[in-house]
Amino acid sequence: MTKIAIFASGSGSNAERIIEYFKGNAQIEVSLILTNNPEAYVLERAKRLQVPAVIFGREDLMSTDKVLSILKEHEIDFVVLAGFLLLVPGNLVDAYPDRIINIHPALLPKFGGKGMYGDRVHQAVKSAGEAETGISIHYVNKKYDEGEIIFQAKCPVAEEDTPEIVADKVHQLEYQHYPQVIESVINNSIKNL
Ligand code: GAR
Repeated sequence: MTKIAIFASGSGSNAERIIEYFKGNAQIEVSLILTNNPEAYVLERAKRLQVPAVIFGREDLMSTDKVLSILKEHEIDFVVLAGFLLLVPGNLVDAYPDRIINIHPALLPKFGGKGMYGDRVHQAVKSAGEAETGISIHYVNKKYDEGEIIFQAKCPVAEEDTPEIVADKVHQLEYQHYPQVIESVINNSIKNL
């Protein structure tokens, strides 16, 4: 059994889809939700979907091994970021080489980096007058949004699209692809062990 932990800071709509996708799967299970935000709606979803959740502080993550210990305690094999807004620190990246992936709501390397998350990304895409945007799923290294890209998908941006409409289109792409990409990364990396 491969055990996934999902890190999320906000609504958690991707986290919910991922949990649902793996429900009943005999090989892969979402075992834990982690958040740095005690107000995050993802905590309500975790409760409803009966997945254990842990809240940690920014300092716990950045300056201690507390989060790593939580992952080890729950025997986590693979980490998925879904709307997680903090930098993943080196101790986690080193403990999970090629076992942490993130989804970014734009076509990296464009519109990535520190401070580029959620609606800010879609606003930047609109301000730049882009005719298309999309999603990027990538491995996590020690810098924001710079790990190797695993998968991208695109959608058109019409001139009249508001950032909210762009966000909707991007979310649809995320729901459509993220669970399957997680599954195939896990299956391939297990074969490569
Ligand atoms: C998603 O669109 C995700 O790609 C983005 O935050 C949103 C979270 O939505 N992540 C980033 O911007 C990371 N830089 P959700 O909480 O409803 O899944």
